[in-house]
Formats: sequence, structure tokens, C-alpha cells
Amino acid sequence: MKISVIGTGYVGTVSAACFADLGHEVICVDIDKSKIDRINAGIPPIYEEGLSELLKKYAGKRLHATSDYDFAIKNSEVSFLCVGTPPDPRGNIDLGIVKAAGAGIGRSLGTKKGYHVIVVKSTVVPGTTETVVLPAIEEHSGKHIGEFGIAMNPEFLREGKAVHDFMNPDKIVVGSMDKKSADLVASLYQGLKCDVIRTNLRTAEMIKYANNAFLATKISFANEIGNICKELGIDTYEVMKAIGRDFRIGPHFLNSGAGFGGSCFPKDVKALIGKARETGYEPELLNSVLEVNEKQPHRMVSLLKDKLGSIKGKKIAVLGLAFKNDTDDIRESRSIPVIKELLDNGANVSAYDPMANGNMKKIFNIKYYGSAIDALRGADACLVMTEWDEFRSLDKEFDVMEKKLVIDGRHMLTPGKDVEYVGLCW
Ligand code: UDX
Repeated sequence: MKISVIGTGYVGTVSAACFADLGHEVICVDIDKSKIDRINAGIPPIYEEGLSELLKKYAGKRLHATSDYDFAIKNSEVSFLCVGTPPDPRGNIDLGIVKAAGAGIGRSLGTKKGYHVIVVKSTVVPGTTETVVLPAIEEHSGKHIGEFGIAMNPEFLREGKAVHDFMNPDKIVVGSMDKKSADLVASLYQGLKCDVIRTNLRTAEMIKYANNAFLATKISFANEIGNICKELGIDTYEVMKAIGRDFRIGPHFLNSGAGFGGSCFPKDVKALIGKARETGYEPELLNSVLEVNEKQPHRMVSLLKDKLGSIKGKKIAVLGLAFKNDTDDIRESRSIPVIKELLDNGANVSAYDPMANGNMKKIFNIKYYGSAIDALRGADACLVMTEWDEFRSLDKEFDVMEKKLVIDGRHMLTPGKDVEYVGLCW
């Protein structure tokens, strides 16, 4: 099948490369010329495990990139909308980019002959495909639904593991208004071993939010239990290991610590809260999920102050700046509120991250180092914020600290006895 993918962020680029791998011909569309050039040269515009290999294999063959909407729409049978849905200043979803992309597709669709299906993959609040995207396409194409098809096909891709997750899904959700569009979208995934769940448009949109909200809730639940365990002198990881054996709970996403960050969980939970409020419903549980998550980073600094007293003028090493391991992405990283609070309290911050130093430099003017040991040298304490594998074996490196106090926000270290090791929730 011939597919166009609008938007070359991590979801768009990964989907395009994976669809090419499934045997389809794919055209990527973006307004950013530098991204277009990179994709055509087989170089990923972002880091994703396995993406570089796929782009090298298919760029210039089954995979092309362009900024020409017309060309892309006319040379494909189905278009995936993979543009960003950033939060507005109140935390609600900003649908401006989605609407503009819908209008762009509509303009090209107006003069196109033959049936075309538009599939929304961007994460949008329930009702958006039907009440924002569809009207934009109809208005700018002069065509009516039926002359073209529309579908909603959410993604559940973890950053860093997006290629793996695309090729090994545990579900494919296709929301549509008619069988013809749904059949076409489902057929694109042929070859992947998993069920296709068919729903209407707004149910598909809600599944994405409910999925992420549930995972975020699991983490905040683990953090709440962890905070109580800490007060009671119990290792919450032993508790979670046991409850995870209950098949109704499951073992994943029960790791307590500094909380969740990233481009999805915080934004999606906020957007769902905003949508719920529009209906007059106050989502108490979701509010608390965010509240617990906001408190976790402050608990790191509180523990530090309990141990050191005033931290004014003290050198504090922060290990890990990315929102999770194996990425340079710092969006909503839990290290941001921690560094801010350290600076507000007059501490001198030294930081190290294997990939994210460069991105954090744009936010904080602190000292950045190229290794953990360099950041630790002369420090009065160390805070571990991201679950990078290389931190697991840190031990002798702590010898260079002024005072060997380590507060672990990710339950990953087992340093020797001469280090004062403090777990956030254990
Ligand atoms: C998430 C969802 O997993 C994915 O399905 C969705 O499409 C996008 O959002 P991602 O943001 O890439 O993916 O990160 P993920 O690996 O899920 O982790 C999110 C955050 O939760 C990280 O900051 C991580 O450190 C934290 N986390 C995760 C915990 O604190 N505890 C856990 O048990 C698991």
C-alpha cells in the first residue's frame, strides 16, 4: 500500500520506517526542511534504537520525505497524521497543529481523484477526530465523509523502544466511522502478530488516554505506598514484588522513585483532566496522580536537607538528567524541579548524564561533566535521578566525594559500606 505520514517526530518517523519494513511505500511530510534532508539521506532526525538501520535500508527506495503535501497525498492511498499535540498555557491540549495539518491534507485532497483514508495517530482528546480534523478536511477539500475515509489509530510506543514496540504490539486499536476505512487501516499491519481492536473514533482516542493514565496511576500508587513504606522502615520494592505476582495487578510499572516524566504521561494526564473538567466532572484520582508525581522530586531534596542541614554553598552532584535512560530527552524530567530547588537553596550543582547534558544546558547554568566520577569529585552529596545502566555499578567512584552521601531516586545502586546510602522510598 502507498502511505503518507504527516509529521516526522518520533512517532511519525518510526511509523514511516516500520511501515516501509512491513513492505509499504511511504512518503514522510514535514515543514522542517532539515528533517526532510536527513530522512532522505537515511539519517534519523531523532535517536531511536533500530531506526537508523531501517532508514539506511529504505531511504530513497521504499521511503521518501518531502515538504510537498500535494505530492504526498496524490501519491498515497492513506495518510497518517503524526503531528504534535502540545499543552496550551493552562495545560489543556493545543489542537492548532492537528487542525492545520487536517486543513493541509484537505487542500490536497480536493483535487485528488480516488478514495483516500486519513488516519489520526497523534494523541488527541476524545471527539477531536470527529469534530476538529474531519470538519477541517471537509472544509478545505470541498468533499464529504464517504468520498474519503477517516480513522483513529493511537500509538503506544515508548520513546527509545519505539521501533521494537511498533513491530511487537500487544494491541492495535482502529477507530473508524465505517468498515471500509477500518479494514484498510487494519490491513496495513498485516504480518504483526496481535489482535486488532475495532471501535468508533472517540473510543479509540479515549483508549490512548486511559492507557497512559492507568500507567501513570500505577507509578503514583507505587510512589505513595513507597512514601508510606519509607516512614515505616519497610522496603517497598519487596512489597511491590509480592503484589505484582497477583495476576490482576501485574509486575510492571510499580517502580517507586523520583516519579514519571517525558513527553506523554504528564501531558496526557493533564489533557484528560482538562477534557473531564469541560464536561463538569472533577477527576480527583487523576489530580492526585499528578500531585504525588510533583511531590516526589521535592522529597529528594527534603531527604538531602534532613542529612546535611542547610545546603547553601554545598556541592551537590546530580547523576541523570534525561527523563529516563537511553534518551537525551529531558522533557518533564524529574531532575528539572530537583536542580531548580537545589539552586533556590543556594547549592552548587554539578551534573552528569550520558546523553542529556547538552539539552539541560539550555535550561540551567550549572557545571556539567563528561563522567559520573568528575561530577562527584568534591561533592557533599549525590542525587541519582535517572535509571542509566552505567550508574548501577557505581561504588569506588564515590571515594572522590567530600562526604559520601548518596540519595538514590531510582532504586539502582548497591554501594559499599563506607557510603551512606539513602533510598527515596526504601
Ligand atoms: C510512555 C508510554 O509507556 C507509551 O506507551 C506512550 O505511548 C508514551 O508514554 P515514555 O514516555 O517513552 O512512554 O516512557 P516510559 O518508559 O513509559 O516511562 C515514563 C516515565 O515513567 C519515566 O520517567 C520513568 O522513569 C517513569 N517510570 C516508569 C517510573 O517512575 N516507574 C515505573 O515503574 C516505570
